[in-house]
Amino acid sequence: MTITVLCNDNTTTISFVDGQTLLEVIRGENVPVHAPCGGQGTCEKCTVYLVTETGEQAVLACRTAAEDGMTVRVPAASPLEVQLRAEDDAEVLVPDPGLAGYGVACDIGTTTVVCHLMDLASGKKLATVGEGNAQRPYGGDVIARIKASMEGRRGALTAAITGQLRRMITALCASAGVAVADISCMSIAANTTMCHLLTGLAPDGIGVSPFTPLSRFGDEWDAAALGLPFPGKVYIAPAISGYVGGDITADVLAADLDRAEKPTLLIDVGTNGEMALGCGEHFVCCSTAAGPAFEGAQISCGMTAAAGAISSVEWDGEKLCCGVIGGGEAVGLCGSGLIDAMAVMLHLGAVDETGRMLDAEEDEDEIPQEARPYLFLLEDGEPAFRLTEQVWVAQGDVRKLQLGKGAIAAGVQILIDAYGVGFEGIDALLLAGGFGSFIRPESAARIGLIPAELLHCTRAVGNTAALGAQMALVSEEARARLARLQETMDYKELSGLPEFNDAYMEAMMFPEED
Ligand code: FES
Repeated sequence: MTITVLCNDNTTTISFVDGQTLLEVIRGENVPVHAPCGGQGTCEKCTVYLVTETGEQAVLACRTAAEDGMTVRVPAASPLEVQLRAEDDAEVLVPDPGLAGYGVACDIGTTTVVCHLMDLASGKKLATVGEGNAQRPYGGDVIARIKASMEGRRGALTAAITGQLRRMITALCASAGVAVADISCMSIAANTTMCHLLTGLAPDGIGVSPFTPLSRFGDEWDAAALGLPFPGKVYIAPAISGYVGGDITADVLAADLDRAEKPTLLIDVGTNGEMALGCGEHFVCCSTAAGPAFEGAQISCGMTAAAGAISSVEWDGEKLCCGVIGGGEAVGLCGSGLIDAMAVMLHLGAVDETGRMLDAEEDEDEIPQEARPYLFLLEDGEPAFRLTEQVWVAQGDVRKLQLGKGAIAAGVQILIDAYGVGFEGIDALLLAGGFGSFIRPESAARIGLIPAELLHCTRAVGNTAALGAQMALVSEEARARLARLQETMDYKELSGLPEFNDAYMEAMMFPEED
């Protein structure tokens, strides 16, 4: 039995066995179907189209059984490609003497994977490629991936990421005119779950209390044994815990926080808000489950930061101004756009401090003049705020954002208390990760995602995990610093901590405007 899949100008015939859903059939062939909930039927984002003689019918891939002879179109709007923000290439790496040849530094995020081809002798970056993580059809966040692994799909998850790295390495080498066989080493910064799935280790322990990983890495693996296409070693940056991974130690390394004299707060915002506070050899760190809102998942019009996503929203005093990635028509809203939109909604009084959106019919008299044109009711009566004809923020989206930003803000509070420092004693707040580069700090402070007291010293530092991976690729000293961080960083487990629950409840409210 087979189905025919149409996607991005490609036509593929895929065999299946009785009882499989369309999602199960399609993702097994690396077709980039979007499935944030991993096939649980809760996100309603896995829409594909059954093609018949009379037209097309939209169905959820995870809720539809494959049938022999079906033709299915997977929307081209869900490619695994991602927007890469131009990085600051001014960073000069100092390689160890005697290094020669080529290496690859890689940041494997749950959502995106970025690889850099490096000249080991000069420390120069020769080529960069970024894609959406090929494991995304198995779920949008680490919890969904762990669940998929526990349900028997660990092999498929490992094959997805190793296959993707093989393709990316080949593409990097082709673009730089370097032979794949001339690569001698690779360095990886990734969260602990991604490291487990890459190396074929079961991440199951990370999914249940006490969240214990099988490995905290910080070691070398044989490239060929991992299924990578070059002879040599793969170094994996050390993790602190199941939820504070090698991406965070790499962030801290790249930002030189272990050499700083005053404490800095570093936050990597994603489906997990991972954060560290400290300097020198004294750090505290934690991770909070921020949920999928910042990745644009499980939001009514949510999408990843790809072409067509509204990534910024501003109020110019008279009207909304939405910035769309790629400049075309808006088809959805990504995390940074959602944070901006929320800040504007609060400013206009369309949403109050508790997160309640005004009802366009019931609260007619209370709605501030400026917010009126944007508030409306969805078909099911849910209040919503319109950004464009096609894109809006609904009441339920505000609630999800409150959960996410509340978790991160509460984590920050716990770290500050644990470190015993006031806001005035913190030198800087660094927003790390690809997503952090797109967040407007003013909006993040307005909605209470970051403390307003630190707004003056907040800055995005870009993909520091990738930079940390590059440093570790060319320098033994960088690896030694990472190892020291693994030894000294003090991890705070937040689940079940009463102080965290109290801070969380409080942080879900929106701050009042100054
Ligand atoms: Fe199908 Fe989420 S509803 S993957």
